[in-house]
Amino acid sequence: MAKIKILDDETVKLIAAGEVVERPANAVKELIENSLDANATRIDVSIKNGGKTLISVKDNGTGMSREDAVLSISKHATSKISGKEDLSKIRTYGFRGEALYSISSVSKFEMITGQGDSSTYIYCEGNKILKIEERGPMKGTLINVFDLFFNLPARKKFMKSDINEFQATEEIFISYLFAREDVSFTLTHNGKQIFNIPVVNSLIDRFTYVYSPELAKKMVSVENKNVNFEIRGIISKPELTRKSKDHIYIYVNDRPVKSPEIIESIISAYGSLLFRDSYPIAIIKIYIDPEFVDVNVHPAKIFVKFSNESEILNFVKESVQKALKGINLIPDVSREFPALEKMEAMLDVEKQLTFETEKGILQKKIDENIPDTGSFRVVGQVLDTYIIVDTGKGMLIVDQHAGHERIRTEKLEDDINRKSVQNLIDPITVKLEPWQIEIIRQEKDLFSSMNFQFDVFQNHVILRTVPSFFKVQEIVDAFIEGLNELGKNKTKGIDERKRETIATMACKGAIKANQKLSEKEMKILLYDLMKCRNPYTCPHGRPTMINIGKDELEKMFKRKI
Ligand SMILES: Nc1ncnc2c1ncn2[C@@H]1O[C@H](COP(=O)(O)OP(=O)(O)O)[C@@H](O)[C@H]1O
Ligand SMILES: [Mg+2]
Repeated sequence: MAKIKILDDETVKLIAAGEVVERPANAVKELIENSLDANATRIDVSIKNGGKTLISVKDNGTGMSREDAVLSISKHATSKISGKEDLSKIRTYGFRGEALYSISSVSKFEMITGQGDSSTYIYCEGNKILKIEERGPMKGTLINVFDLFFNLPARKKFMKSDINEFQATEEIFISYLFAREDVSFTLTHNGKQIFNIPVVNSLIDRFTYVYSPELAKKMVSVENKNVNFEIRGIISKPELTRKSKDHIYIYVNDRPVKSPEIIESIISAYGSLLFRDSYPIAIIKIYIDPEFVDVNVHPAKIFVKFSNESEILNFVKESVQKALKGINLIPDVSREFPALEKMEAMLDVEKQLTFETEKGILQKKIDENIPDTGSFRVVGQVLDTYIIVDTGKGMLIVDQHAGHERIRTEKLEDDINRKSVQNLIDPITVKLEPWQIEIIRQEKDLFSSMNFQFDVFQNHVILRTVPSFFKVQEIVDAFIEGLNELGKNKTKGIDERKRETIATMACKGAIKANQKLSEKEMKILLYDLMKCRNPYTCPHGRPTMINIGKDELEKMFKRKI
Protein backbone atom coordinates (compact mmCIF):
# COMPACT_ATOMS: atom_id res chain seq x y z
CA MET A 1 0.00 0.00 0.00
CA ALA A 2 1.30 3.43 -0.86
CA LYS A 3 2.51 5.41 2.11
CA ILE A 4 2.22 8.76 0.46
CA LYS A 5 -1.17 10.43 0.64
CA ILE A 6 -2.46 13.62 -0.84
CA LEU A 7 -3.65 15.81 2.00
CA ASP A 8 -7.24 17.01 2.01
CA ASP A 9 -8.00 20.68 1.32
CA GLU A 10 -8.85 21.46 4.90
CA THR A 11 -5.43 20.30 6.15
CA VAL A 12 -3.60 22.04 3.32
CA LYS A 13 -5.38 25.25 4.22
CA LEU A 14 -4.38 25.02 7.86
CA ILE A 15 -0.75 24.25 7.07
CA ALA A 16 -0.51 27.17 4.67
CA ALA A 17 -2.19 29.53 7.11
CA GLY A 18 0.24 28.51 9.81
CA GLU A 19 3.09 29.63 7.60
CA VAL A 20 1.82 33.17 7.26
CA VAL A 21 0.58 33.48 10.82
CA GLU A 22 3.15 31.91 13.04
CA ARG A 23 2.23 33.80 16.18
CA PRO A 24 0.06 36.75 17.23
CA ALA A 25 2.73 39.29 16.27
CA ASN A 26 2.54 38.18 12.61
CA ALA A 27 -1.19 38.73 12.53
CA VAL A 28 -0.76 42.18 14.07
CA LYS A 29 1.82 42.99 11.41
CA GLU A 30 -0.47 41.97 8.57
CA LEU A 31 -3.42 43.88 9.99
CA ILE A 32 -1.39 47.06 10.52
CA GLU A 33 -0.11 46.78 6.95
CA ASN A 34 -3.65 46.44 5.63
CA SER A 35 -4.69 49.55 7.53
CA LEU A 36 -1.74 51.49 6.14
CA ASP A 37 -2.52 50.26 2.63
CA ALA A 38 -6.06 51.54 3.17
CA ASN A 39 -4.58 55.01 3.82
CA ALA A 40 -5.47 55.08 7.48
CA THR A 41 -4.15 57.99 9.51
CA ARG A 42 -5.04 56.40 12.82
CA ILE A 43 -4.50 52.80 13.88
CA ASP A 44 -5.51 51.36 17.24
CA VAL A 45 -4.10 47.98 18.19
CA SER A 46 -5.44 46.22 21.24
CA ILE A 47 -4.54 42.73 22.34
CA LYS A 48 -5.39 40.43 25.21
CA ASN A 49 -3.17 37.76 26.75
CA GLY A 50 -0.34 38.40 24.37
CA GLY A 51 -2.78 38.13 21.46
CA LYS A 52 -3.82 34.59 22.26
CA THR A 53 -7.40 35.49 23.17
CA LEU A 54 -7.84 38.70 21.17
CA ILE A 55 -6.08 40.77 18.55
CA SER A 56 -7.99 43.86 17.55
CA VAL A 57 -6.94 46.39 14.94
CA LYS A 58 -9.09 49.39 14.12
CA ASP A 59 -8.39 51.95 11.44
CA ASN A 60 -9.96 55.01 9.83
CA GLY A 61 -8.95 54.00 6.32
CA THR A 62 -11.03 53.59 3.16
CA GLY A 63 -12.99 50.59 4.44
CA MET A 64 -14.64 48.02 2.16
CA SER A 65 -17.97 47.49 0.44
CA ARG A 66 -20.00 44.43 1.44
CA GLU A 67 -18.87 42.60 -1.67
CA ASP A 68 -15.17 43.33 -1.06
CA ALA A 69 -15.47 42.46 2.61
CA VAL A 70 -16.63 38.96 1.69
CA LEU A 71 -13.96 38.64 -0.99
CA SER A 72 -11.19 39.91 1.29
CA ILE A 73 -11.15 36.72 3.36
CA SER A 74 -11.05 34.37 0.40
CA LYS A 75 -7.85 32.84 -0.90
CA HIS A 76 -5.53 35.03 -2.99
CA ALA A 77 -7.90 37.95 -2.79
CA THR A 78 -6.13 41.25 -3.25
CA SER A 79 -6.95 44.66 -4.61
CA LYS A 80 -3.28 45.58 -4.79
CA ILE A 81 -1.92 43.74 -7.81
CA SER A 82 -3.58 42.19 -10.80
CA GLY A 83 -0.86 40.10 -12.32
CA LYS A 84 2.76 39.06 -12.28
CA GLU A 85 3.98 42.19 -14.05
CA ASP A 86 2.85 44.18 -10.98
CA LEU A 87 5.17 42.19 -8.71
CA SER A 88 8.15 44.26 -9.83
CA LYS A 89 6.62 47.58 -8.83
CA ILE A 90 5.06 47.01 -5.47
CA ARG A 91 4.37 50.17 -3.54
CA THR A 92 1.88 48.71 -1.05
CA TYR A 93 2.70 46.68 2.05
CA GLY A 94 0.52 43.78 0.97
CA PHE A 95 0.19 42.12 -2.40
CA ARG A 96 -0.29 38.38 -1.93
CA GLY A 97 -3.89 38.43 -0.82
CA GLU A 98 -3.16 35.83 1.85
CA ALA A 99 -3.25 37.57 5.17
CA LEU A 100 -6.98 37.85 5.88
CA TYR A 101 -7.57 34.42 4.40
CA SER A 102 -4.89 32.88 6.63
CA ILE A 103 -5.80 34.75 9.79
CA SER A 104 -9.51 33.98 9.40
CA SER A 105 -8.68 30.31 8.72
CA VAL A 106 -7.01 29.83 12.10
CA SER A 107 -9.23 31.94 14.35
CA LYS A 108 -12.70 33.15 15.18
CA PHE A 109 -12.72 36.24 13.06
CA GLU A 110 -14.89 39.31 13.19
CA MET A 111 -14.82 42.28 10.84
CA ILE A 112 -16.80 45.49 10.64
CA THR A 113 -15.95 47.64 7.68
CA GLY A 114 -17.60 50.54 5.96
CA GLN A 115 -16.97 53.32 3.50
CA GLY A 116 -19.13 55.97 5.13
CA ASP A 117 -22.88 55.54 4.83
CA SER A 118 -23.17 51.97 6.06
CA SER A 119 -21.05 49.07 7.13
CA THR A 120 -20.85 45.31 6.94
CA TYR A 121 -20.39 42.91 9.82
CA ILE A 122 -18.93 39.49 9.15
CA TYR A 123 -18.25 36.71 11.62
CA CYS A 124 -16.50 33.51 10.64
CA GLU A 125 -14.77 30.56 12.24
CA GLY A 126 -12.02 28.70 10.43
CA ASN A 127 -12.80 30.87 7.37
CA LYS A 128 -16.45 29.76 7.28
CA ILE A 129 -18.79 32.73 7.30
CA LEU A 130 -21.39 32.18 10.03
CA LYS A 131 -22.94 35.61 10.10
CA ILE A 132 -23.13 38.57 7.76
CA GLU A 133 -25.16 41.68 8.50
CA GLU A 134 -25.54 45.25 7.47
CA ARG A 135 -24.65 47.77 10.18
CA GLY A 136 -24.78 51.53 10.69
CA PRO A 137 -22.65 54.25 9.07
CA MET A 138 -18.92 53.93 9.55
CA LYS A 139 -15.71 54.69 7.71
CA GLY A 140 -12.81 52.41 8.31
CA THR A 141 -12.29 48.85 9.40
CA LEU A 142 -12.24 46.99 12.70
CA ILE A 143 -10.96 43.47 12.80
CA ASN A 144 -11.13 41.26 15.90
CA VAL A 145 -9.25 37.99 15.90
CA PHE A 146 -10.40 35.74 18.75
CA ASP A 147 -8.88 32.52 19.95
CA LEU A 148 -5.96 32.28 17.53
CA PHE A 149 -5.13 28.69 16.47
CA PHE A 150 -8.27 27.33 18.12
CA ASN A 151 -8.37 24.73 15.32
CA LEU A 152 -4.61 24.19 15.14
CA PRO A 153 -3.67 22.74 18.54
CA ALA A 154 -0.09 21.96 17.52
CA ARG A 155 0.53 25.58 16.66
CA LYS A 156 -1.33 26.78 19.72
CA LYS A 157 1.01 24.77 21.93
CA PHE A 158 4.00 26.55 20.43
CA MET A 159 2.92 29.98 21.54
CA LYS A 160 5.10 31.31 24.31
CA SER A 161 4.07 33.06 27.51
CA ASP A 162 1.71 36.04 27.25
CA ILE A 163 4.56 38.40 28.06
CA ASN A 164 6.74 36.85 25.42
CA GLU A 165 4.07 37.03 22.74
CA PHE A 166 3.26 40.59 23.76
CA GLN A 167 6.89 41.61 23.44
CA ALA A 168 7.00 40.23 19.92
CA THR A 169 3.92 42.28 19.06
CA GLU A 170 5.35 45.37 20.70
CA GLU A 171 8.51 45.04 18.65
CA ILE A 172 6.53 44.86 15.42
CA PHE A 173 4.32 47.72 16.52
CA ILE A 174 7.33 49.96 17.24
CA SER A 175 8.81 49.17 13.85
CA TYR A 176 5.73 50.70 12.21
CA LEU A 177 5.89 53.76 14.46
CA PHE A 178 9.14 54.68 12.75
CA ALA A 179 7.89 53.64 9.33
CA ARG A 180 5.13 56.21 9.25
CA GLU A 181 5.28 59.40 11.31
CA ASP A 182 2.20 60.63 9.45
CA VAL A 183 -0.03 58.06 11.15
CA SER A 184 -1.07 58.01 14.81
CA PHE A 185 -0.94 54.71 16.64
CA THR A 186 -2.04 53.29 19.97
CA LEU A 187 -1.21 49.95 21.52
CA THR A 188 -3.18 48.47 24.40
CA HIS A 189 -2.49 45.23 26.24
CA ASN A 190 -5.06 43.70 28.60
CA GLY A 191 -6.88 47.02 28.77
CA LYS A 192 -3.78 49.03 29.62
CA GLN A 193 -2.59 51.57 27.06
CA ILE A 194 1.11 51.09 26.39
CA PHE A 195 1.64 53.56 23.54
CA ASN A 196 -0.33 56.57 22.38
CA ILE A 197 1.67 58.19 19.61
CA PRO A 198 0.37 61.23 17.71
CA VAL A 199 1.09 62.27 14.16
CA VAL A 200 4.34 64.25 14.04
CA ASN A 201 6.33 66.06 11.39
CA SER A 202 9.67 64.35 11.69
CA LEU A 203 11.33 61.11 12.56
CA ILE A 204 13.18 62.68 15.47
CA ASP A 205 9.87 63.85 16.95
CA ARG A 206 8.56 60.32 16.63
CA PHE A 207 11.71 59.03 18.27
CA THR A 208 11.18 61.45 21.15
CA TYR A 209 7.77 59.91 21.80
CA VAL A 210 8.93 56.33 21.53
CA TYR A 211 12.23 56.68 23.39
CA SER A 212 12.67 59.94 25.33
CA PRO A 213 13.62 63.60 24.92
CA GLU A 214 16.95 62.89 26.65
CA LEU A 215 17.91 60.19 24.18
CA ALA A 216 16.64 62.26 21.27
CA LYS A 217 19.27 64.87 22.11
CA LYS A 218 21.92 62.28 21.46
CA MET A 219 20.71 61.43 17.97
CA VAL A 220 21.97 62.99 14.76
CA SER A 221 20.34 62.95 11.40
CA VAL A 222 21.54 61.05 8.37
CA GLU A 223 20.63 62.36 4.97
CA ASN A 224 22.13 61.40 1.68
CA LYS A 225 21.05 60.96 -1.88
CA ASN A 226 22.44 59.80 -5.18
CA VAL A 227 20.86 58.96 -8.50
CA ASN A 228 19.68 55.55 -7.36
CA PHE A 229 18.83 55.88 -3.71
CA GLU A 230 18.02 58.20 -0.93
CA ILE A 231 18.68 57.70 2.76
CA ARG A 232 16.94 59.44 5.60
CA GLY A 233 17.28 58.58 9.22
CA ILE A 234 18.72 59.21 12.63
CA ILE A 235 21.60 57.54 14.43
CA SER A 236 22.96 57.80 17.94
CA LYS A 237 26.17 59.58 18.79
CA PRO A 238 28.80 57.06 19.90
CA GLU A 239 28.20 58.03 23.53
CA LEU A 240 24.73 56.45 23.31
CA THR A 241 24.84 52.73 22.75
CA ARG A 242 22.89 49.59 23.51
CA LYS A 243 24.04 46.10 24.31
CA SER A 244 22.20 44.56 21.38
CA LYS A 245 21.46 45.32 17.77
CA ASP A 246 17.73 45.40 18.48
CA HIS A 247 17.64 49.17 18.35
CA ILE A 248 18.75 49.36 14.75
CA TYR A 249 15.70 49.72 12.52
CA ILE A 250 15.95 49.39 8.76
CA TYR A 251 13.29 50.42 6.26
CA VAL A 252 13.08 50.04 2.54
CA ASN A 253 10.48 52.34 1.03
CA ASP A 254 8.93 52.64 4.49
CA ARG A 255 8.65 48.87 4.88
CA PRO A 256 10.37 47.59 8.03
CA VAL A 257 12.84 44.90 7.01
CA LYS A 258 15.51 42.79 8.62
CA SER A 259 18.91 43.05 7.06
CA PRO A 260 21.96 41.84 8.95
CA GLU A 261 24.07 43.17 6.07
CA ILE A 262 22.79 46.72 6.33
CA ILE A 263 23.14 46.57 10.10
CA GLU A 264 26.76 45.54 9.64
CA SER A 265 27.35 48.50 7.32
CA ILE A 266 26.02 50.86 9.94
CA ILE A 267 28.14 49.36 12.70
CA SER A 268 31.23 49.34 10.55
CA ALA A 269 30.73 53.03 9.81
CA TYR A 270 31.18 53.74 13.51
CA GLY A 271 34.38 51.68 13.54
CA SER A 272 36.29 52.07 16.77
CA LEU A 273 33.96 54.75 18.05
CA LEU A 274 31.93 51.92 19.50
CA PHE A 275 33.16 49.84 22.34
CA ARG A 276 33.23 46.17 21.56
CA ASP A 277 29.76 44.61 21.85
CA SER A 278 27.97 47.89 22.09
CA TYR A 279 25.73 49.04 19.29
CA PRO A 280 24.15 52.29 18.21
CA ILE A 281 20.48 53.15 18.10
CA ALA A 282 19.66 53.82 14.47
CA ILE A 283 16.68 54.28 12.23
CA ILE A 284 17.71 54.12 8.62
CA LYS A 285 15.18 54.54 5.85
CA ILE A 286 16.25 53.71 2.34
CA TYR A 287 14.20 54.88 -0.62
CA ILE A 288 14.74 53.11 -3.88
CA ASP A 289 12.84 52.40 -7.08
CA PRO A 290 10.70 49.29 -6.31
CA GLU A 291 12.11 47.68 -9.43
CA PHE A 292 15.41 47.19 -7.63
CA VAL A 293 13.90 45.45 -4.60
CA ASP A 294 12.25 42.06 -4.46
CA VAL A 295 9.87 42.01 -1.49
CA ASN A 296 8.52 38.64 -2.49
CA VAL A 297 11.40 36.52 -1.17
CA HIS A 298 10.08 35.85 2.32
CA PRO A 299 6.65 34.63 3.54
CA ALA A 300 6.33 37.43 6.08
CA LYS A 301 7.97 40.02 3.75
CA ILE A 302 10.58 40.67 6.44
CA PHE A 303 13.63 40.12 4.28
CA VAL A 304 14.01 41.74 0.90
CA LYS A 305 16.49 41.27 -1.91
CA PHE A 306 18.23 44.11 -3.68
CA SER A 307 19.49 43.81 -7.21
CA ASN A 308 22.35 46.16 -6.32
CA GLU A 309 23.10 45.13 -2.76
CA SER A 310 26.77 46.06 -2.50
CA GLU A 311 26.06 49.52 -3.81
CA ILE A 312 23.42 50.00 -1.14
CA LEU A 313 25.68 48.70 1.61
CA ASN A 314 28.41 51.14 0.61
CA PHE A 315 25.97 53.96 0.37
CA VAL A 316 24.63 53.28 3.85
CA LYS A 317 28.12 53.12 5.32
CA GLU A 318 29.17 56.31 3.58
CA SER A 319 26.03 58.14 4.70
CA VAL A 320 26.48 57.13 8.34
CA GLN A 321 30.15 58.09 8.26
CA LYS A 322 29.26 61.45 6.82
CA ALA A 323 26.74 62.03 9.58
CA LEU A 324 29.25 61.04 12.27
CA LYS A 325 31.96 63.27 10.86
CA GLY A 326 29.76 66.28 11.29
CA ILE A 327 29.38 65.83 15.03
CA ASN A 328 31.24 66.50 18.16
CA LEU A 329 32.26 63.27 19.82
CA ILE A 330 33.05 64.78 23.18
CA PRO A 331 30.06 65.50 25.36
CA ASP A 332 30.01 69.23 25.10
CA VAL A 333 28.50 71.93 27.21
CA SER A 334 28.04 73.92 24.07
CA ARG A 335 26.94 72.45 20.79
CA GLU A 336 29.96 73.92 19.06
CA PHE A 337 32.60 71.89 17.36
CA PRO A 338 35.19 71.03 19.99
CA ALA A 339 38.91 70.77 20.24
CA LEU A 340 38.82 67.54 18.36
CA GLU A 341 40.90 68.81 15.48
CA LYS A 342 43.65 69.79 17.86
CA MET A 343 43.54 66.40 19.44
CA GLU A 344 43.80 64.80 16.09
CA ALA A 345 46.75 67.02 15.27
CA MET A 346 48.33 65.83 18.44
CA LEU A 347 47.64 62.24 17.60
CA ASP A 348 49.25 62.74 14.23
CA VAL A 349 52.41 64.01 15.86
CA GLU A 350 52.47 60.89 17.95
CA LYS A 351 51.90 58.64 14.97
CA GLN A 352 54.89 60.11 13.17
CA LEU A 353 57.16 59.01 15.96
CA THR A 354 58.05 55.40 16.39
CA PHE A 355 56.26 54.31 19.45
CA GLU A 356 58.13 52.45 22.14
CA THR A 357 56.62 51.21 25.32
CA GLU A 358 59.58 51.85 27.52
CA LYS A 359 58.50 54.43 30.08
CA GLY A 360 61.60 56.63 29.81
CA ILE A 361 61.28 57.09 26.09
CA LEU A 362 57.57 57.68 26.30
CA GLN A 363 58.12 60.20 29.05
CA LYS A 364 60.68 62.04 26.97
CA LYS A 365 58.26 62.22 24.09
CA ILE A 366 55.57 63.58 26.30
CA ASP A 367 57.81 66.24 27.68
CA GLU A 368 58.87 67.12 24.20
CA ASN A 369 55.58 66.80 22.44
CA ILE A 370 52.72 67.94 24.57
CA PRO A 371 54.12 71.38 25.12
CA ASP A 372 55.30 71.38 21.52
CA THR A 373 51.83 70.96 20.10
CA GLY A 374 51.21 74.24 21.77
CA SER A 375 47.51 73.61 21.86
CA PHE A 376 47.02 71.28 24.80
CA ARG A 377 48.16 72.75 28.07
CA VAL A 378 47.44 71.12 31.39
CA VAL A 379 46.25 73.94 33.60
CA GLY A 380 45.83 71.93 36.76
CA GLN A 381 43.66 69.69 38.85
CA VAL A 382 40.35 70.56 40.45
CA LEU A 383 38.98 68.74 43.52
CA ASP A 384 41.82 66.27 43.08
CA THR A 385 39.60 64.58 40.51
CA TYR A 386 39.36 66.61 37.30
CA ILE A 387 42.18 67.69 35.05
CA ILE A 388 41.66 71.03 33.37
CA VAL A 389 43.20 71.43 29.95
CA ASP A 390 43.49 74.54 27.82
CA THR A 391 42.96 73.29 24.28
CA GLY A 392 43.50 76.58 22.56
CA LYS A 393 39.84 76.48 21.55
CA GLY A 394 38.37 76.25 24.98
CA MET A 395 38.55 74.23 28.13
CA LEU A 396 38.59 70.48 28.41
CA ILE A 397 37.71 68.81 31.70
CA VAL A 398 38.99 65.27 32.03
CA ASP A 399 37.75 62.88 34.72
CA GLN A 400 41.04 61.34 35.83
CA HIS A 401 39.49 58.11 37.06
CA ALA A 402 37.26 57.49 34.02
CA GLY A 403 40.14 58.47 31.71
CA HIS A 404 42.60 56.16 33.38
CA GLU A 405 40.08 53.31 33.31
CA ARG A 406 39.84 53.73 29.54
CA ILE A 407 43.63 53.80 29.13
CA ARG A 408 44.21 50.73 31.25
CA THR A 409 41.43 48.76 29.59
CA GLU A 410 42.78 49.36 26.11
CA LYS A 411 46.31 48.54 27.25
CA LEU A 412 45.20 45.26 28.77
CA GLU A 413 43.17 44.43 25.67
CA ASP A 414 46.20 45.10 23.51
CA ASP A 415 48.40 42.93 25.71
CA ILE A 416 45.90 40.09 25.55
CA ASN A 417 45.52 40.36 21.80
CA ARG A 418 49.28 40.50 21.28
CA LYS A 419 49.73 37.58 23.69
CA SER A 420 52.18 39.64 25.65
CA VAL A 421 52.63 37.63 28.87
CA GLN A 422 54.88 37.35 31.88
CA ASN A 423 55.84 33.99 33.30
CA LEU A 424 55.92 34.33 37.03
CA ILE A 425 59.23 33.02 38.30
CA ASP A 426 57.65 32.78 41.72
CA PRO A 427 54.15 31.48 40.98
CA ILE A 428 51.49 33.25 43.02
CA THR A 429 49.23 31.14 45.18
CA VAL A 430 45.74 32.52 45.81
CA LYS A 431 43.38 31.01 48.35
CA LEU A 432 39.77 31.07 47.21
CA GLU A 433 36.27 30.24 48.38
CA PRO A 434 34.73 27.03 47.02
CA TRP A 435 32.30 28.96 44.78
CA GLN A 436 35.21 30.87 43.28
CA ILE A 437 37.04 27.64 42.59
CA GLU A 438 33.91 26.42 40.84
CA ILE A 439 33.91 29.50 38.58
CA ILE A 440 37.59 28.98 37.79
CA ARG A 441 36.96 25.41 36.76
CA GLN A 442 34.02 26.41 34.58
CA GLU A 443 35.77 29.36 33.00
CA LYS A 444 39.19 27.87 32.44
CA ASP A 445 38.96 28.46 28.68
CA LEU A 446 37.96 32.06 29.08
CA PHE A 447 40.86 32.67 31.45
CA SER A 448 43.29 31.02 29.10
CA SER A 449 41.97 33.17 26.25
CA MET A 450 42.99 36.12 28.45
CA ASN A 451 46.45 34.55 28.80
CA PHE A 452 46.13 33.40 32.38
CA GLN A 453 47.75 30.04 33.04
CA PHE A 454 47.25 28.37 36.37
CA ASP A 455 46.78 25.14 38.28
CA VAL A 456 44.03 24.48 40.75
CA PHE A 457 44.76 22.55 43.94
CA GLN A 458 41.82 22.06 46.24
CA ASN A 459 40.98 25.58 47.36
CA HIS A 460 44.08 27.21 45.89
CA VAL A 461 44.94 28.57 42.49
CA ILE A 462 48.58 28.75 41.49
CA LEU A 463 49.06 31.47 38.91
CA ARG A 464 51.95 30.77 36.57
CA THR A 465 51.49 33.07 33.61
CA VAL A 466 49.57 36.35 33.42
CA PRO A 467 49.30 39.22 30.89
CA SER A 468 52.41 41.40 31.09
CA PHE A 469 50.15 44.38 31.70
CA PHE A 470 49.88 43.64 35.43
CA LYS A 471 52.36 44.75 38.03
CA VAL A 472 53.15 41.82 40.33
CA GLN A 473 51.46 43.46 43.33
CA GLU A 474 48.24 44.00 41.33
CA ILE A 475 47.80 40.47 40.10
CA VAL A 476 45.93 38.88 43.01
CA ASP A 477 43.38 41.67 43.34
CA ALA A 478 42.78 41.92 39.60
CA PHE A 479 42.41 38.16 39.27
CA ILE A 480 39.87 37.95 42.08
CA GLU A 481 37.92 40.94 40.73
CA GLY A 482 37.82 39.34 37.29
CA LEU A 483 36.70 36.07 38.77
CA ASN A 484 33.87 37.69 40.71
CA GLU A 485 32.79 39.58 37.60
CA LEU A 486 32.57 36.30 35.70
CA GLY A 487 30.49 34.81 38.48
CA LYS A 488 27.95 37.62 38.07
CA ASN A 489 27.55 37.47 34.35
CA LYS A 490 26.63 33.90 33.62
CA THR A 491 23.81 34.65 31.22
CA LYS A 492 25.72 36.93 28.85
CA GLY A 493 27.51 35.94 25.67
CA ILE A 494 31.14 34.88 25.84
CA ASP A 495 32.58 37.96 24.07
CA GLU A 496 30.69 40.33 26.24
CA ARG A 497 31.71 38.54 29.42
CA LYS A 498 35.31 38.60 28.32
CA ARG A 499 35.17 42.29 27.53
CA GLU A 500 33.62 43.10 30.89
CA THR A 501 36.08 40.93 32.77
CA ILE A 502 39.00 42.64 31.05
CA ALA A 503 37.56 46.05 31.93
CA THR A 504 37.02 45.04 35.55
CA MET A 505 40.54 43.71 35.92
CA ALA A 506 42.06 46.73 34.23
CA CYS A 507 40.01 49.26 36.16
CA LYS A 508 41.06 47.82 39.47
CA GLY A 509 44.36 49.68 39.53
CA ALA A 510 43.15 52.89 37.94
CA ILE A 511 43.91 56.29 39.43
CA LYS A 512 41.05 57.16 41.72
CA ALA A 513 39.08 60.33 42.18
CA ASN A 514 40.35 62.43 45.12
CA GLN A 515 43.94 61.64 44.33
CA LYS A 516 46.46 64.40 43.88
CA LEU A 517 48.43 64.18 40.65
CA SER A 518 51.65 65.89 39.67
CA GLU A 519 51.77 67.88 36.47
CA LYS A 520 53.78 65.12 34.88
CA GLU A 521 51.22 62.49 35.84
CA MET A 522 48.45 64.60 34.40
CA LYS A 523 50.35 65.03 31.16
CA ILE A 524 50.98 61.32 30.85
CA LEU A 525 47.34 60.60 31.50
CA LEU A 526 46.17 63.12 28.94
CA TYR A 527 48.66 61.88 26.40
CA ASP A 528 47.75 58.22 26.92
CA LEU A 529 44.07 59.01 26.77
CA MET A 530 44.36 60.79 23.45
CA LYS A 531 46.06 57.73 22.04
CA CYS A 532 43.13 55.46 22.92
CA ARG A 533 40.96 54.04 20.20
CA ASN A 534 37.95 55.45 21.97
CA PRO A 535 39.14 58.20 24.31
CA TYR A 536 35.72 59.64 24.87
CA THR A 537 34.10 57.16 27.20
CA CYS A 538 35.23 54.89 30.01
CA PRO A 539 34.69 51.13 29.55
CA HIS A 540 31.39 51.46 31.38
CA GLY A 541 30.18 54.09 28.94
CA ARG A 542 30.56 57.22 31.10
CA PRO A 543 32.24 60.24 29.50
CA THR A 544 35.93 60.72 30.18
CA MET A 545 35.95 64.34 29.14
CA ILE A 546 33.72 67.34 28.70
CA ASN A 547 34.53 70.30 26.51
CA ILE A 548 33.54 73.88 27.12
CA GLY A 549 34.28 75.76 23.94
CA LYS A 550 35.33 79.37 23.68
CA ASP A 551 31.88 80.34 22.47
CA GLU A 552 30.22 78.74 25.44
CA LEU A 553 32.59 80.50 27.85
CA GLU A 554 31.87 83.80 26.18
CA LYS A 555 28.16 83.17 26.46
CA MET A 556 28.47 82.28 30.12
CA PHE A 557 30.23 85.56 30.83
CA LYS A 558 27.82 87.44 28.61
CA ARG A 559 30.59 88.67 26.38
CA LYS A 560 28.43 87.33 23.63
CA ILE A 561 24.74 86.60 23.37
N1 LIG B 1 -8.10 47.43 6.92
C1 LIG B 1 -8.52 47.35 5.65
N2 LIG B 1 -9.13 48.39 5.04
C2 LIG B 1 -9.56 48.31 3.76
N3 LIG B 1 -9.39 47.23 2.97
C3 LIG B 1 -8.78 46.15 3.50
C4 LIG B 1 -8.33 46.15 4.85
N4 LIG B 1 -7.77 44.95 5.10
C5 LIG B 1 -7.87 44.24 3.96
N5 LIG B 1 -8.47 44.96 2.99
C6 LIG B 1 -8.75 44.50 1.61
O1 LIG B 1 -8.67 43.10 1.62
C7 LIG B 1 -7.73 42.63 0.67
C8 LIG B 1 -7.06 41.38 1.20
O2 LIG B 1 -6.20 41.66 2.29
P1 LIG B 1 -4.97 40.72 2.55
O3 LIG B 1 -5.48 39.36 2.73
O4 LIG B 1 -4.16 41.29 3.64
O5 LIG B 1 -4.17 40.77 1.19
P2 LIG B 1 -3.21 41.88 0.58
O6 LIG B 1 -2.95 42.91 1.65
O7 LIG B 1 -2.00 41.14 0.21
O8 LIG B 1 -3.95 42.44 -0.59
C9 LIG B 1 -6.80 43.79 0.44
O9 LIG B 1 -6.22 43.75 -0.83
C10 LIG B 1 -7.71 45.00 0.62
O10 LIG B 1 -8.38 45.29 -0.57
MG1 LIG C 1 -2.40 42.53 3.55
